[in-house]
Amino acid sequence: MIQKKYIVITGASSGIGYETAKAFARRSKNLIIIARRRNKLESLRQEILAEYPNVDVIIKTVDLSILENVYQLYRDLKIYTLETWINSAGFGNYESVAQQELQKIEKMLCLNVTALTILSSMFVHDYKDVEGTQLINISSSGGYTIVPTAITYCATKFYVSTFTEGLAQELKLSNGKMQVKVLAPAATKTEFGKVANNVREYNYDRLFDTYHTSQEVAEFLLRLYDSSYVVGLVDRETFAFELSEPKFPYAGNSTYNQKIQN
Ligand SMILES: NC(=O)c1ccc[n+]([C@@H]2O[C@H](COP(=O)([O-])OP(=O)(O)OC[C@H]3O[C@@H](n4cnc5c(N)ncnc54)[C@H](OP(=O)(O)O)[C@@H]3O)[C@@H](O)[C@H]2O)c1
Repeated sequence: MIQKKYIVITGASSGIGYETAKAFARRSKNLIIIARRRNKLESLRQEILAEYPNVDVIIKTVDLSILENVYQLYRDLKIYTLETWINSAGFGNYESVAQQELQKIEKMLCLNVTALTILSSMFVHDYKDVEGTQLINISSSGGYTIVPTAITYCATKFYVSTFTEGLAQELKLSNGKMQVKVLAPAATKTEFGKVANNVREYNYDRLFDTYHTSQEVAEFLLRLYDSSYVVGLVDRETFAFELSEPKFPYAGNSTYNQKIQN
């Protein structure tokens, strides 16, 4: 019997993750959707099943800013065969470094950096030699350009960009079969604005001249998924979406690298 394969999406209860789940459901992909708010994940599941009753949607509620939950989640998913892993869970913070609230920053580092690294590493460990598998990490245009008043958030996203590009390079060098990719959206109308600014209401029309919808960004993600490129970046100035090879300098086979020990 052929085993069902699943696409895992963290941060699926809202915004880009939510629309990405719907976009893959349209392609009849089975889904494992992850976030803290069960009611939002339940309504996503109902929405998907109403249109695509043959798609299997599994819900996992977990706070990924707590390290032991991250390991437990991955252990719980070992019973499933996975095809693609998408790390979309993440949040931002608008504040100067001197003024930023450190408890929020701690959580942001745990989620945006630690959880993403641990989940990516375990997925790559288990699936790097499996044809057709993909890891897609959601960075930001702020993971390629430093944005004022969002320095620490951008630093987490520079980490996501460099870690993911580096991992893509590593797998290419070692002839891994998994494709590793980074999606870097610019301003997108989601719950991001509310969370990053600690407010109940956030008006994207008033606060941005231009932004994308989360449906548009989910379409960008599908274009990246369908391509063999590593980076899908939205230009912060033009809002154009472009697929490309990795952007950061890579030392590759430089003679100045540490020698491989025999
Ligand atoms: N919107 C933008 O302008 C923009 C631009 C560039 C990049 N991004 C990136 O895009 C990704 C998705 O963000 P979004 O714009 O879609 O924002 P969003 O609507 O706020 O979605 C964030 C998702 O992350 C989940 N999440 C937050 N904290 C979590 C935790 N501790 N444990 C588990 N899940 C958690 C949220 O679910 P729960 O609250 O239910 O847990 C939600 O599903 C993020 O990585 C963000 O940095 C966003």
